Amino acid sequence: MKKLNMLMALFVLSLVWACGGGSASTEGSAAAPPPKSMVEEEADPMENKGIGPVASIKLEEVNEVLVADGLKIFEDMCTACHKVEKKFIGPSPKGIMDRRSPEWIMNMILNPDEMVIKDPIAKQLLIEANGAPMANQNLTEEQARAVLEYFRTL
Ligand code: HEC
Repeated sequence: MKKLNMLMALFVLSLVWACGGGSASTEGSAAAPPPKSMVEEEADPMENKGIGPVASIKLEEVNEVLVADGLKIFEDMCTACHKVEKKFIGPSPKGIMDRRSPEWIMNMILNPDEMVIKDPIAKQLLIEANGAPMANQNLTEEQARAVLEYFRTL
């Protein structure tokens, strides 16, 4: 009986030792806290209105006259760098209304120079475009609004 107790005690001891030893051997890797992400926690892009003259836009039903104007402006002044069907020098505007706020889009068109320096999304796009900046085409606010209307149809 004494021998059995002794064996039991040894068994328990060996278990304790195994666990202790186990955790000690993995210390370096498992115990180290995961590195903090270098990227700031991303805010909802649709909440970002960008930096520039456009503070607030209310979108009504799509205005076909404005769409036609916007298409013409886009073809004249933007297709050197933007293609609807694929990424070119800059991103395709297809589906842009789902990933950016209308104010942000207009501010990017009207004030790209400041946007690519200060706005977090525009800064990231500049990196993705390998440093090729979005060109300021000196559109009026009305022209930019027409382009936005055209983007709504893409
Ligand atoms: C010289 C090339 C060039 C021209 C011309 C140009 N863009 Fe851009 N655009 C870019 C690049 C490159 C980017 C990506 C951001 C960056 O690198 O600064 C961009 C980004 C954008 C974005 C943001 C896209 C997104 O996915 O968020 C919009 C909107 C945009 N351009 C609209 C226009 C419009 C409208 C015109 C015409 C009036 C135009 N661009 C003319 C190069 C150009």
